[in-house]
Amino acid sequence: MSAIRPFQHTPSSPVVFGAGCSAGIVDKTLLKRASKILVVTDRGVVAAGLLDPIVKALGDRLHPAIDDAVVPDGDCAHVDVVAARAKAAGVDAVLALGGGSVMDSAKGICMAMAKGVPVSTLEGVATLRTKLAPLVCVPTTTGTGSEATQFAVLMDRQAGKKRIYVDQNLVPALALLDPALVVGLPASVTCATAVDALTHALEALASKMRNPLATAQALEAVRLLIPSGALARSLAKPDDVDARGDCMVAAHLAGRAVSSAMLGACHALAHVLGARCAVPHGVANGLFLVPVLRHNASKSIGAYQRLAQTVNAVDVDGAIAVVDEFVHGVAGIPRRLRDVAPGLAQEELPLLAKAAFVDPDLPTNPAVLDEAGLLTILRQRW
Ligand SMILES: [Fe+2]
Repeated sequence: MSAIRPFQHTPSSPVVFGAGCSAGIVDKTLLKRASKILVVTDRGVVAAGLLDPIVKALGDRLHPAIDDAVVPDGDCAHVDVVAARAKAAGVDAVLALGGGSVMDSAKGICMAMAKGVPVSTLEGVATLRTKLAPLVCVPTTTGTGSEATQFAVLMDRQAGKKRIYVDQNLVPALALLDPALVVGLPASVTCATAVDALTHALEALASKMRNPLATAQALEAVRLLIPSGALARSLAKPDDVDARGDCMVAAHLAGRAVSSAMLGACHALAHVLGARCAVPHGVANGLFLVPVLRHNASKSIGAYQRLAQTVNAVDVDGAIAVVDEFVHGVAGIPRRLRDVAPGLAQEELPLLAKAAFVDPDLPTNPAVLDEAGLLTILRQRW
């Protein structure tokens, strides 16, 4: 056994879990103190009927101009428009009801409101140096974990790139995990988001910034998703609130794990593919997860042996095979890039490798990957 190395663990948001808990949102002290609450959501959430109970619960403290126009891969320009409007109206708290794009857009709105500059200019690590308006996150998918993290990812469509933000001030003030909100989630979204959650857990487990607290969270997320069968049970019986709750807690735990242990090469590759082709984030992670695990295996033996124990595999190769079956069997993520990104040409792969090489998630990958190594993985998956 190796000694525990020095580490720092980043705290995550306070959390409340339980079927129906979002109905009590108005009783939360944090929101009792706010007089003008901006709700950020998207049209899918509205169409699913999830917004109305929240609106009723907030009563006259709701800022009337609800932002229900968040798009997949939250948009920097949209964030700037909503933030300017909210600041002028005196908004003093933000409530995000939705998946990762909604929660990250809400984080962007809080940033732009506090700093008074375009959100694209705030990209980077620890750039904020100021407290933001309190953000309450109510996730309606079970993958991103953004409700727990100090991260946000937004798409700058003018620049054609994803902007990545890492700042302690982005940790939400409160997360409400209500599995009743996700029983209607379509199977494709359930699968892609579960694969994103698993990727968070596995990248945190082996990251250069891994630490015992994040490892405990990551392994429990893996246990819920794989041996406990949270995804398989959610797919077999979509209204199984217990199975949905397990997926939701797994995603949250994995979010907590990456918030302190950070990510790795899989996310670096997924970011550039998502920016180039709008492939759903979880699908992009699923494409690259197994080859990245194989590449990292020699540098992550201890971490992957813990994974093997958790998924009841005899060794590291067996653990990677279990992950392969989860991603491509249970979740049904394709194995070939050209099947998920039909607009992409093979000649573009070197450009993707170049962009992934400078992605801020790459430096914490446990094994070195240069542009050539990233290109090899992209070509393996072509
Ligand atoms: Fe992710």
